[in-house]
This record gives sequence, structure tokens and C-alpha cells, in this order.
Amino acid sequence: NWSMDDFIDQAIADIREKVGDRKVLLGLSGGVDSSVVGVLLQKAIGDQLTSIFVDHGLLRKGEADQVMESLGEGFGLNIIKVDAQDRFLGKLAGVTDPETKRKIIGNEFIEVFNDEAIKLKDVDFLAQGTLYTDVIESGTDTAQTIKSHHNVGGLPEDMHFELIEPMNTLFKDEVRSIGEKLGIPHALVWRQPFPGPGLGIRILGDITEEKLEIVRETDAILREEVAKHGLDKTIWQYFTVLTGLRSVGVMGDGRTYDYTVAIRAVTSIDGMTASFAQVPWDVLEEISIRMVNEVDHINRIVYDITSKPPATIEWE
Ligand code: XMP
Repeated sequence: NWSMDDFIDQAIADIREKVGDRKVLLGLSGGVDSSVVGVLLQKAIGDQLTSIFVDHGLLRKGEADQVMESLGEGFGLNIIKVDAQDRFLGKLAGVTDPETKRKIIGNEFIEVFNDEAIKLKDVDFLAQGTLYTDVIESGTDTAQTIKSHHNVGGLPEDMHFELIEPMNTLFKDEVRSIGEKLGIPHALVWRQPFPGPGLGIRILGDITEEKLEIVRETDAILREEVAKHGLDKTIWQYFTVLTGLRSVGVMGDGRTYDYTVAIRAVTSIDGMTASFAQVPWDVLEEISIRMVNEVDHINRIVYDITSKPPATIEWE
């Protein structure tokens, strides 16, 4: 008769016993897993927890603020927010290859995290939102790489952390129900998957501030409309991609030559396979009109009608 309430009580007791009066460090990503671990630890050990949140500038609109508000102000987590946009954009300038972008973002993430972590004194533990699925399958995604880097060798030689992974026996749906029980906002608990490299892999080719603005604003419009039409319960993941393609359009009396934005929306169970979501035409029409009216430098919106396989969910 294992209930989520029992789990929470037990986890809090275990954490208290293990940590005693020592200090714990946590890397917050804005995702479900690290948020739930953060709140759990906060309940267990209060201000013995310090969290680091790296804003790499590749987050969605409002995401960094949401983390600071809901976890920082809402739950009282002590969060060190690192504004590292310039560092990341600098390293990414001119880089077009998707895997190279992923590597740069992953490595820089670890470096920024380490630079902050090393400033903290007397921290004995590193907490992580590792799930049961992370334990059984050695993931290949960036988030997983970051996790494993933190475990072994990713941190400077003179920093020896003991790991705390309170959720490594849980599946995602269990983490979500614990998140709900802990009172974490619904939008955070039921957040759609978001890749570690963020918007960086949703801009085909090299990343610039201007392109980031386009993908961030069109993504925000898409999310708003999907929620407004109640489609967020059925669509598993949805986002926009700034294709490298520019094409001719017409605006007023003049011709334009601007970017094409693609909308990607899929249904899926686990992301391994996916079908393109059958979003109603009138909703797509509304989204398309809003995007070209509200966001500069785009004049064409296309809808991705491929499933996975043969396409992947992300375009890079
Ligand atoms: P694909 O594009 O491979 O995506 O069909 C499957 C799922 O994985 C996510 N994804 C990533 N997540 N780092 C991540 O943390 C990555 O580099 C990465 N690439 C893809 C993608 O958003 C989808 O949910």
C-alpha cells in the first residue's frame, strides 16, 4: 500500500538522516524533476540547500522568471541565478552543426555550474533529479550527460560530493503526482518535455539574438493558443522551429524576403515514436496569423506533417 504521501514522508526522513546539519547543492533546470527534488529538499532541510539555476539564454519566454517566482518566492528556495546568456552565445557564435551545438551547450553548462559551485563553501552533497528510467538506461541526451558529468569527473578535483538522488526509484508519472502533492504549480508539474540545449536546437544553423527572439516569440504564441484551445492535454510536445529558409512574401505594396517558421506538434507516449498532431485547421490559421502579425522578420509559417520515424521530433 505504497502511497505518494508515504513516499514523501520517508524521503524527507531519509534526507534529514543522511544530511544531518551539512549542506546540499542542487542544479535547477526549470524542469519537473529538479523542481520536485528542490521542493522535497527544501521541506527536509530548509536553508541547508542552495540551488544553482543557469540561464543559458536558450530558455522559453518567461521560463527563468517562472522558476524564480514559483520555486524561489513560492517555496523559499535559495536560488543562485546565473545569467550566462553572453557566455553561451559567445561560444555558439557561428556554429551550425547540431551535435557541435549540443556539445558546446552541455560543456558550457557544466563549466558555468562549476564556477558557481566552487564559490560555495562546505557543501558535502549534490542532489539530482535522477529517475528510475535514468538509472536503468544510460541516456544519450544532454540532460543525462550533464547528470553523469556531475557524478563523475565533471566537477573540479577538489570538490567531492556525495550524491543525493531521492527519486531514483520513481517513474515520471510518480514524480508528477509527488510534485502535485507538494503543491508545485500545475504548469510546472505538467510541463511538456524541453531539451537541455533548449531553443539552441530549434534554430537551424547558427544562433543569433535576432533568431532567438523569433523562435522565443513564436513559441510563446503557439503555447498560448494551444492552451487556449485546450489542446495541451492531448499534444505531447509542441514548439516552433526557425528554419534557415527565407522566402519571398508580400506586405502592403512591397515584397518581403524573410524567414520561414515551422510549427511542430506531436502526440507520443515516450518520445521514441511520435505522430504529428492533428491540430484543427482553424486553430492553425489563428496561430499563423498571430505569428506573422506579431513577430518581425517572418513571412511564412509551415506545419510539419511528418511522424517519427522517419523524422525526429526536434529538427536538429
Ligand atoms: P527527437 O528529436 O530525438 O527527440 O525525436 C525525442 C525527445 O528528446 C528530446 N531531445 C532532447 N532532450 N537533450 C535533451 O535533453 C537533447 O539534446 C535532446 N534532443 C532531443 C526532444 O525534445 C524530444 O522530447
